[in-house]
This record gives sequence, structure tokens and C-alpha cells, in this order.
Amino acid sequence: MTRSIFAVSALALALAACSKSPAPEAPAAAPAETATAAAPATTTAAEAAPAPEAAPAPEPAPAAGTMPATVTDCATTIEANDSMKYNADSITVPASCTQFTINLKHVGKMPITAMGHNVVIAKQADMARIAADGMSVSPEHIKAGDARVIAHTRMIGGGESASVSFDVAKIKGDGPYEFFCSFPGHLALMKGSIAVQ
Ligand code: CU
Repeated sequence: MTRSIFAVSALALALAACSKSPAPEAPAAAPAETATAAAPATTTAAEAAPAPEAAPAPEPAPAAGTMPATVTDCATTIEANDSMKYNADSITVPASCTQFTINLKHVGKMPITAMGHNVVIAKQADMARIAADGMSVSPEHIKAGDARVIAHTRMIGGGESASVSFDVAKIKGDGPYEFFCSFPGHLALMKGSIAVQ
């Protein structure tokens, strides 16, 4: 009786010893899984990082129509400066006018080659192509014979003035129409609406 109890105890010990042996393998696998799990977290952090750099881009553009040009006797005078700005962002042409004149005054000091300004009238949809096609045409920056141009002043430098007159009927069609500067890079800041009312 005593022997058989010992035999059972010995077997139990042997089984216990056996069942312990595979145990050390388990911890070995665990660190590998932890490393894999950590990797995606690092990637996510790297992807999120560039976002703050892109955020400052949307600078609020001034709302159109906040600086209406003063119109008197079917004409207006617009000033342009060395900061690449007009002093008006909208022109309302009275419906009673058959001809309209825009006088441009460059109140800055910079030369035409560095800070040239003009006033071009065109459909809003054509502005970007007119400016792009005129980019290499110095000093006017309007492609010769560009049929999309409704009217334009000559390009001027600091201290100079220029003017242009056009038939109001030409801006009574499908707009919207805008006035803008075709000097390379100026379109983004120098533009405004022109409409007959
Ligand atoms: Cu300009």
C-alpha cells in the first residue's frame, strides 16, 4: 500500500516536471509580439506629425466687396502699391454707362520689372490662363492678341499712371467678370469683381 502511494507520488512529480518544461518557451514569444504591436503606433505618430505644418496655409482671404471702388461719371480710379495690392476689390459699373474708364495709379516706388501693375478685365474663368500665358511676355504680361482679354491698361511701375476705356456691353454677358493684375504672381492678391448694376 505504501509503495503504491509512493509510485503515484513519483508519477505526479514526473508529470509536474514535464509540464513545467514547455513553460520557458512562452515568454520568449511574448516580447516579439510586443515589439510588433509597438511598431504601428510609431508609424501613426510619424504620419500625424506633418499635419500641423499644413494647417497654417488657409489664411483668411479678405471678403470680396469690402473695398468698393468710387465710381463717378462712368469712371473710377484705382491705386496699386508696392505691397502688391489694389485699394479696391469691387467695381460697380452703372447700367446707364455705355463706356467705362478705369484709371490706374501706381502709388509705390518700385520699378515695373519688380512690381509692375496693370488692370485687366476678363471673365473670372479666364483669369488664370491669361496670366499664365502672359507670364513670359515682358513687360506687358499679356499674350499678343489674347481674345479672352476684354480690356487692359498698359503695365506701369511706381509713380506712373495708365487708363483704359471699354464698352460696358462687353461685361453684360455671362460672367462673373473680374479685374486683375497680370504681372507674374500678382493675380492671387490683385483681383476684384466688376459688374454692371
Ligand atoms: Cu501687379
